[in-house]
Amino acid sequence: MNSEEIIDQGQGNKRKRYFVLSEINEYNQDDNYLYLQLSEGELVLEFITSEIVRVVMGQRDKADLSTSPALVEHNLKYQDFEVEDKGDYLQVTTQDLKIKINKQKLGISFYDLDGNLIHRDYSKKALGWSKDEVRAWKELREEERFYGLGEKTGWLDKRDGKYVMWNHDTFSPHVDDTDPLYQSIPFLIGLNQNKAYGIYFDNTYKSHFDLGVGEKDYYSFWAEGGNLDYYFINGPSLKEVVDSYTTLTGKMPLPPKWSLGYHQSRYSYHPEEEVREIAQNFREKEIPCDAIHFDIHYMDEYRIFTWDENRFPNPEQLLTDLGADGFKPITIIDPGVKRDPKYDIYQEGIENDYFCKYLDGEYFIDKVWPGRCVFPDFTQQAVRDWWGDLHQRLTDVGVRGIWNDMNEPAVFNETDTMDTDVIHQNDGDLGTHDRFHNLYGFLEDQATYEGLKKHLSNERPFVLTRAGFAGIQRYSAVWTGDNRSFWDHIKLAMPMLMNLGLSGVTFSGTDVGGFTGDTSGELLARWTQLGSFVPFFRNHCEIRAIYQEPWAFAEEYESIITEYIELRYKFLTHIYNLFYQATQTGLPVMRPLVMEYQSDEETHNLSDQFMVGDSILVAPIYQPDRDRRMVYFPEGTWYDFWTGEEYEGNQHVIVDAPLDTLPLYVKAGSILPLAPVVNYVGEKDIEELNINIYLDSKVTTDSYKLYNDDGLSFNYQDGEYSLTEFTYQYQAANLEFTIDDQQTGYQEYKSYCLSFNNVASKPRTVIVDGAEVDDWNYEAQRLEVTIPAKTTKVEVKL
Ligand code: GLC
Repeated sequence: MNSEEIIDQGQGNKRKRYFVLSEINEYNQDDNYLYLQLSEGELVLEFITSEIVRVVMGQRDKADLSTSPALVEHNLKYQDFEVEDKGDYLQVTTQDLKIKINKQKLGISFYDLDGNLIHRDYSKKALGWSKDEVRAWKELREEERFYGLGEKTGWLDKRDGKYVMWNHDTFSPHVDDTDPLYQSIPFLIGLNQNKAYGIYFDNTYKSHFDLGVGEKDYYSFWAEGGNLDYYFINGPSLKEVVDSYTTLTGKMPLPPKWSLGYHQSRYSYHPEEEVREIAQNFREKEIPCDAIHFDIHYMDEYRIFTWDENRFPNPEQLLTDLGADGFKPITIIDPGVKRDPKYDIYQEGIENDYFCKYLDGEYFIDKVWPGRCVFPDFTQQAVRDWWGDLHQRLTDVGVRGIWNDMNEPAVFNETDTMDTDVIHQNDGDLGTHDRFHNLYGFLEDQATYEGLKKHLSNERPFVLTRAGFAGIQRYSAVWTGDNRSFWDHIKLAMPMLMNLGLSGVTFSGTDVGGFTGDTSGELLARWTQLGSFVPFFRNHCEIRAIYQEPWAFAEEYESIITEYIELRYKFLTHIYNLFYQATQTGLPVMRPLVMEYQSDEETHNLSDQFMVGDSILVAPIYQPDRDRRMVYFPEGTWYDFWTGEEYEGNQHVIVDAPLDTLPLYVKAGSILPLAPVVNYVGEKDIEELNINIYLDSKVTTDSYKLYNDDGLSFNYQDGEYSLTEFTYQYQAANLEFTIDDQQTGYQEYKSYCLSFNNVASKPRTVIVDGAEVDDWNYEAQRLEVTIPAKTTKVEVKL
């Protein structure tokens, strides 16, 4: 066999013998594929677009071109590529890329059309295998940074780390090198010389990324089974990479607006009276809250889809009352089904052969909360349909969202999970659990999302999950599992959530206040400040922890916590709008600064501050007894949201941040809608929206496109939404503001209160749609004028 044998000592000195693809004997181009025949097997390049190229290895055989469920069905294909034989190498040209493939010693290099190298295979070995393991080696460049990889601890830049993709219930404290956690997203972004590219490794087995630990020249990724099948995604911007990645794995659906509000949870609120008391407290104290979570004690001995008759004698009445008060009840569901012959869900699953078994027909049985359990085989459509329909039992009594926990799946044994020998039926294409493990939660979430969609009539489902795989954004929000009430966990949350966002998962958050351990008033106040700008905002803690509701500590803390929950609601219109954008572009709501300021090296590993969209900068405090911190301001001018103080960009500044202050900045030149505070989404019609315009003498124009709809139903799909573009022009003594109603299928606002900040002098005249008005106000460089929503133009003469 004409293969090269390589001894690799990269993995803990374990010697392994790899076979690698080496010499190309023949090639042929067909449709959007380029097939390369090598003595050791086949390599196929599939051109999805001119910037997305799939690479699949067939070791000793034809390449297997099937895909995992992470990929959405698409009909993208790019056929216009040209292949030229250049002697030593094949040159493939697309509209955006030049790809060189070495013929003697296989290796692929990706260049832009100007000949700049974007990324290439390692020169000594590129693609190979060792027994069941399949592996790719990539050139590591000196300045290369890495992002993505989903839910990982550590800094924003993932370089010099080793990471495992194997969904795991990790209760031990999450520290910088705790790995793996609950999610597996084998998607990596490289950034080098201001060019970003992505690699999505479409392999569901346990996989590994070694990003240069002990090696200067190469990095590599491999899986313990399955195919070497990856997608190269060209940038050059991080935004383009994430957009393309979410074209492959799906954009998130529009969430119900209430799910972006504040959630209150505890393991567990019970009995019914306690839930009522919590709810009543929120309303009496006027602390906004949209959702209350029911953890495992609502169930009858942890039998899923049941209620404990003593603790919750009349769930329908309770949930109806909560609903009337504006709370959306969310119940936890674990996949383990109690092995109880008198339990109908167990009976149905057995009768229909829905549970996971070994090859010899024995059920996989292990312990979770209910004791010995069996586990649905979500790889089968029939099981997913059955599971989805079971949710009707909950939606019928008023449940509005589902929280899927323990779905790695977690079990109480030495491996913490299902035996890898268990067989999944996968609708005929069966395989062992090691192939489906990382998909278990994903497929359960798919079933849940689809079940809720069916049984919540014309309402958008809300699903929250602990485990997931690439593409999970199509079905569920993600929370980062069992963190602790440690100050360090505020810090840890930021890069973790930012990288989740870069990995397609926009809707994510951590347990505010910390799950395990006792929080303190100060910690909860600071954590709530972070939470108010994190996409998923839920306070949750475990059974042994002290209570940590917003009022659990001294009044000083309660008022600060309340202020920040209220702030969330002021920003909710903007946050909802950013979520809408995420449904279109895949771009995260919570972003690392590097996504907005890619060429600024100061941002490349900036892990303790983040952006919300492209105009809000948040720099939380994550240490006790701190009343100041350093903030990096990238280019431009930044306004302190609270004081209006200006900061010039490209500098580090030490800013004051007493306990009641979250350092929060708005980029000069931008437009920001702010809504009135409500106790919950939909409490009342919002008739007037505040539009803030942060003027800057150096920025002459900006615009903001606002999406709006009923926030709840699917009617937006029939055109019941509005898109309004606000634009200003600011030059010398003229300020002009225009409103362009581009889509008017939904009307909410009757008027806009425009607040122009930093207006240099008192206006001489204000003209609204051609008519001069005098009911405006100018104070401290701020001009306020309220206009009917149907206005098209406001002119201000200074
Ligand atoms: C797991 C979850 C946690 C939940 C608990 C009880 O530890 O991560 O959020 O409260 O189980 O259901």
